[in-house]
Amino acid sequence: MDAFFVDLFAEIQPDLWTEEASDAQVASLVRLLGIRSGMRVLDAPVGDGRIAVRLARLGCDVVGVDRSEAMLTAAARRAADAGVPLALHDHDLREPVATDAFDLALCLWGSFGFFDDAGLDAQTAAAAQALVPGGRFVLDTPTAETLALGFAPTSCKRIGERFLVEERTLDPVTGGVDATWTLVRGDGTRASARFRYRLHGITELCGRLRRHGLDRVEVYADLDGTPFVVGVARRAVVVATKGEASA
Ligand SMILES: C[S@@+](CC[C@H](N)C(=O)[O-])C[C@H]1O[C@@H](n2cnc3c(N)ncnc32)[C@H](O)[C@@H]1O
Repeated sequence: MDAFFVDLFAEIQPDLWTEEASDAQVASLVRLLGIRSGMRVLDAPVGDGRIAVRLARLGCDVVGVDRSEAMLTAAARRAADAGVPLALHDHDLREPVATDAFDLALCLWGSFGFFDDAGLDAQTAAAAQALVPGGRFVLDTPTAETLALGFAPTSCKRIGERFLVEERTLDPVTGGVDATWTLVRGDGTRASARFRYRLHGITELCGRLRRHGLDRVEVYADLDGTPFVVGVARRAVVVATKGEASA
């Protein structure tokens, strides 16, 4: 796994989402996808379980996978605190998880873009294979169309007593975003980490999904189902349904 996720990301991740914001995301997901008790959900990657535990609380049967020990430990703690069952596995997103086992596979908060083309195909294949026919793969991701709107080579945001400086470049030929995050802590100490993200245009993303049997694709601008309008949308939420033919 990219070293980025081991140290710096694990340090700030708990402060990037408030509980209220995660509550709102899950409420939107429930409405958009008609999530109900008993649905089988794969959350890949699960991160600290902020979405998975909420869905388990609603009665879904949730499996979460991730490669970060810190995230899996945090997710297990969250599930224990909430008193809900949550199956967690140390598992690479590019490896098959299961076959025809889930109604939904979630890949939220920009988690589709960590790999090269072969890796992204493997990630897509693993998600498609895990779904029952008619099951849905849900991605929440920046795309070329959305990132271009607000692209800045440098940005800085305050997180409590700390500042997070992000420097980024975008290669339009490869779609590669190279980012360096520098965290300046309240005591003046700093930590930096780099990561690379493979940005898709919407059409290219839909093509990748279709090649893996996810043949009906809907695109929204948010988890609440806001229509995706180029020039306005700041994010893409893609819902791709596995066709019967690929069963
Ligand atoms: C931005 S977080 C998103 C987590 C979660 N989906 C959420 O919305 O909170 C990205 C996660 O991907 C995980 N990750 C990165 N590379 C991975 C890999 N190769 N296999 C599995 N998980 C990975 C990281 O450990 C991190 O928890």
